[in-house]
Formats: sequence, C-alpha cells, structure tokens
Amino acid sequence: MFDRLKRDIAAVMERDPAATSAWAAYLMYPGLKAIRWQRRTHRLYMSGHTFLARAISQWVRHRTGIEIHPGATIGEGLFIDHGMGVVIGETTIIGDTVTIYQGVTLGGTGKERGKRHPTIEDCVVIGVGATVLGDITIGRGSKVGGGAVVVNNVPPNCTVVGVPGRVVVREGSRVDVVDLHHEDLPDPVVEMLRCIQHRIDRVEVRLARDEQAAAGAAAPAVPAAPMTPTPPEEN
Ligand SMILES: CC(C)(COP(=O)(O)OP(=O)(O)OC[C@H]1O[C@@H](n2cnc3c(N)ncnc32)[C@H](O)[C@@H]1OP(=O)(O)O)[C@@H](O)C(=O)NCCC(=O)NCCS
Repeated sequence: MFDRLKRDIAAVMERDPAATSAWAAYLMYPGLKAIRWQRRTHRLYMSGHTFLARAISQWVRHRTGIEIHPGATIGEGLFIDHGMGVVIGETTIIGDTVTIYQGVTLGGTGKERGKRHPTIEDCVVIGVGATVLGDITIGRGSKVGGGAVVVNNVPPNCTVVGVPGRVVVREGSRVDVVDLHHEDLPDPVVEMLRCIQHRIDRVEVRLARDEQAAAGAAAPAVPAAPMTPTPPEEN
C-alpha cells in the first residue's frame, strides 16, 4: 500500500514542477486523492457493491471536482493535475504513467453500449480541456493538445490537436496539413475562356490567310483585316 502511495507521490513530483515536497503532494493534490479513492471504489465495484461504489465516487467528486467512475480501469502512475472538471467514464482503460490536466473528459459518444469509453495507452498526455469520446485508443506516448476533441484512434507517438482532432506530429516529425489557399486556385471558367479565345485567334489568322490568297488570285492584293477590331479614333 505504501509502495503505491510512494509511486503516486513520485508521479506528482516528477511531472509537476510546482510540487515542492512529498507532503505537499500528498496533502494538496486533489488528483492524488481522487485516484486513491477510485482504487477503493473500483474494488467495491468489481465485488458487486456498485451502489456503494457510486455513492463514494460522487462524494469524492464533491470533494475534488474529479469524477472517475468506479468501473474505470486505471494503471500505475496516473497524474491528474489541478483536476477540476475531469470526468472519466465507466469503461475507460488508462495505462501507466498517463498525465491528465483539468477539464478533460474521457467519455462516451452516447451512441454505443458496452465498452464505450476510450483506452488510453501508457505515457499519454491529455491537455487541458481535451475531450476524448468513444471506444477509441490513444496510442502509447501520444499527446492530446489542450482543447482538442478526439473521436478517432490516435496511433502511438503522435500529437493530435484541434476540433476535430487531427494528427500534427507523428514519431517526432511534423505532419503536413494540406492548407488550401483558395485565392491561388486556378479558375476553370477563366481557363476555358482563355482556351476558346486562343482557338478563335487561330481560326481568324487562317481565315485572313485564305481570304488573302483568294483575293490575290482574283485581283490585286489588299491589306488583311485586323484580327481584333480597333476602337474608332477619337477627335
Ligand atoms: C499538444 C502539446 C502537448 C504539444 O505537443 P508537441 O508534440 O510538442 O507539439 P508542438 O508544440 O510541436 O505543436 C505542433 C503544432 O500543433 C499546434 N498546437 C500545439 N498545441 C495546440 C493546441 N492545444 N491546440 C491547437 N494547436 C496546437 C502548434 O501550434 C504547432 O502548430 P504549427 O507547427 O503550425 O505552429 C501542447 O501544446 C499542449 O497542448 N499541452 C497541454 C498542456 C496543458 O494542458 N497544460 C495545462 C497546464 S495547467
């Protein structure tokens, strides 16, 4: 039991530069309290005392601002920083050494039954206010940016940001996001008009040449008509 407590405190000390001492971590971190209570309620839940487990978890939510369903499976070294507004659903599975910031929801989409909450693999970081929905997997070592809404699987060692969440870094390399500059796109109508104009020009040249040839055969040559009408001269 004390080994586990030591590991929980170590997780706080390692990942929060603001943690000044083990005592401060033990006494003042709501995330640590919520995780320790969840382990107890999880045991109750698994032994069939679901009502009592839920009742205690609601009391813990009241005390810490963190709601972790007793049914959730949580690995070692989870660190919930600040904690307020964190919601972790019943069928969520969290691996080892995961970091979660305030306002994170690991929830269901409302359309599924059974396993309907995310699986978070080892060493994942989920930024402030991020929402991860459905029976999806956030791969080992990946980071979910603050404010992201993720509804699809994320491969290992990726960074996913935005709404909806898109992968911007994979295995340490930037993933190029196609960014269309609409003002630079070719206009198909203008292209077509240009093509038609070109063909008209060619036909006019040919016609002028034929007319010249015909006139030369019948009478003395006259100058060819201009290909494009010239505007009348102004006085
Ligand atoms: C996502 C995060 C983990 C950084 O991961 P990273 O792999 O180092 O990614 P980078 O910083 O290289 O950013 C990659 C791109 O995503 C963008 N980005 C980063 N975080 C973002 C976010 N939360 N939302 C939208 N875009 C974001 C960056 O601007 C960058 O885009 P660019 O290349 O066009 O400039 C970090 O930005 C983050 O959100 N951390 C959460 C921390 C937190 O919640 N702290 C709360 C403390 S109280």
